[in-house]
Formats: sequence, C-alpha cells, structure tokens
Amino acid sequence: MEETENYVEWQDSYSVGIPVVDEQHKELIKLTNNLYKACVDGDDTARTYFKEVIRKTVEYVKFHFSAEEQIMSNAKYPQVAEHKRQHENFVKKVIEDTKKFEEGKAVPYVFVNYLKNWILNHIAVADKAYSSYILQHRKGTS
Ligand SMILES: [Fe+2]
Repeated sequence: MEETENYVEWQDSYSVGIPVVDEQHKELIKLTNNLYKACVDGDDTARTYFKEVIRKTVEYVKFHFSAEEQIMSNAKYPQVAEHKRQHENFVKKVIEDTKKFEEGKAVPYVFVNYLKNWILNHIAVADKAYSSYILQHRKGTS
C-alpha cells in the first residue's frame, strides 16, 4: 500500500496499561487509517476497498470487544454491564452506517471521523476506567 500520512497516530498516552488491550487498540487505529485512505482515494476501487475494510473493521471490533468484556468479567469489574452497553450501541451504529453506506446514503469521511472520535474517547474514558480498576486490583497479588 502506498505510504500516505496517517489519519490518526497511536500515542503513548492512549495506553491503558494492559499490553494485550493496547495491541488491539493499535490494530483498531490501523483499520481506521485504512478506511480513511479508502475514503480519500475516492474512485471505484476505493469504494470496493472501503466496503472490504469496513467488513474487517466490524469483525475486529467484535473480537476486541468480547476480549475486553472477558477481561472485565474475569476481574469482576463492577461497571461491566454499562461498558458492554457502550460496545453494543457502537456495533449497532457501525452496522447501521455500513448499510447506509452500501445504499449510497452515507458519507465515508463522516463515518471514519465518527469512528476515530468514538475509539479515542472510549479508550480515554471507559477503557481507562476499567483498566485502572484492574491494575489497582492486581497490585496486592503481584
Ligand atoms: Fe471498551
């Protein structure tokens, strides 16, 4: 793939302190960048590519969310239900937008922007909340 500037760059401040989660978040950022590239290219190939990357993104998001939910359940994180609800709403929204896009009713750039903002805000608030609970919880045992 041609080297263009990334739409969003991973920053150390995004780290939640749990390496497996950070790696998955990096992958989400990579997928967002791929979607962005497919948007700015703007030709028919890009449109086909966009659909393909959206499909992969939805798959990866589901995989990542269930991994996080497992981590939270294992740690008996008290706000797991609320966190799961955020995940479910996001997946619903992404699937709705994917349909709209396929029907030609959605603007890819707006969608990618939403995706970026949601991921970064979710990491900064909800994911850091559960990870700090888990890290504090671990202190006594390690
Ligand atoms: Fe999360």
